[in-house]
Amino acid sequence: MRKILLIHGPNLNLLGEREPGVYGTDTFETINDEITEHAMALGMHCEVFQSNHEGEIIDQLHLARKKFDGVVINAGAYTHYSYAIRDAIAAIKIPVVEVHLSNIHARDEFRSKSVIAPVCAGQISGFGKYSYLMGIDALAYRWKAEDENEQAE
Ligand code: DQA
Repeated sequence: MRKILLIHGPNLNLLGEREPGVYGTDTFETINDEITEHAMALGMHCEVFQSNHEGEIIDQLHLARKKFDGVVINAGAYTHYSYAIRDAIAAIKIPVVEVHLSNIHARDEFRSKSVIAPVCAGQISGFGKYSYLMGIDALAYRWKAEDENEQAE
């Protein structure tokens, strides 16, 4: 069974009460339950990690390279300026999917730049909590294609 690590960055622990007009009213806990159930329904296991600290997120990315097959990450505001998180993603070989609840390209100018995007497998942005579920789907489709290619060889 493939294992996914979902990483939430800073301030995402306040989902549900934080700027509900932008991020919605679903709580952090209910969103995480939906994500882990969605992964399970697709035959995958998903663990959730959240931190407000850059170094802790980097440590988890390093650990993930041995324990998980892929990562879905919402790096929060670190998305826009953390070269250290970017380098950690570049350093590990497992696929990392970048997700955002809001459409980062339709907000403040500083949010439209993601320094992690070039080293991620892809980016999903603007679908609220469904961005996370789509991140899980993206990994599932990627692995399905890989498995089919292997069988064809
Ligand atoms: C966010 C967008 C970021 O710009 C912001 O700093 C966040 C959340 C999103 O999910 O839309 O914390 O990553």
